[in-house]
Amino acid sequence: MDKLRLRSAVEAARASMPEEERHAASVRTRENLLEQPWVQMAGLVACYWSAGTEPATHGLVFALWKHGATVILPVLRDDDDLDWAVYDGPDTLAPGRFGIMEPVDTRRGVDTVRTASLVIVPALAVDRSTGIRLGRGGGSYDRALARVGPNVPTVALLHDGELLEGVPAEPHDVPVRYVAQPGGITRVVAGRVQ
Ligand SMILES: Nc1ncnc2c1ncn2[C@@H]1O[C@H](COP(=O)(O)OP(=O)(O)OP(=O)(O)O)[C@@H](O)[C@H]1O
Ligand SMILES: [Mg+2]
Repeated sequence: MDKLRLRSAVEAARASMPEEERHAASVRTRENLLEQPWVQMAGLVACYWSAGTEPATHGLVFALWKHGATVILPVLRDDDDLDWAVYDGPDTLAPGRFGIMEPVDTRRGVDTVRTASLVIVPALAVDRSTGIRLGRGGGSYDRALARVGPNVPTVALLHDGELLEGVPAEPHDVPVRYVAQPGGITRVVAGRVQ
């Protein structure tokens, strides 16, 4: 299946999930993540502010922030690359391009993601044998993930059934090292992270 068709199939499946089910899934995924020592110990966490039917992150971002982590969220640039700004509570967000909520804080630059000790990204699907992720088609997270060092855990959040065999990939696609789902955390690539 090509990228466009797989995107439509996953988007359609997400749209057909009842709202309560999506919410319950996000709570379980959040709990799975917050149990991990490498999540608890992360001082600077790059995450995303979910919209629509994406695996929800609002509770996760709030919990990480409450636990004392510094959380940075993407600010979408005109060239589709991601700048980053610090989350400082639910009142510090405003709609950016495409209406996605972004921190109003100072932009720290595209290279800020290099300093994160944990990177959490959205995806529509991930390939269980390669970690290659399918996003929504901007290449924004491919650019961000390309800046992340080899020892940093990179995690895509997925609903059930979105960790697949054979996700279409192009040379610029950057794999993730973990997938977080309601059923648990899967380490998808044998990397250097323990
Ligand atoms: N490092 C890069 N610099 C410039 N453009 C890039 C880069 N990486 C990917 N792109 C471009 O982004 C476009 C979309 O890529 P792709 O289909 O992989 O998006 P995606 O992975 O689904 O989206 P995202 O990464 O935002 O979740 C492609 O045309 C690709 O050339
Ligand atoms: Mg890609």
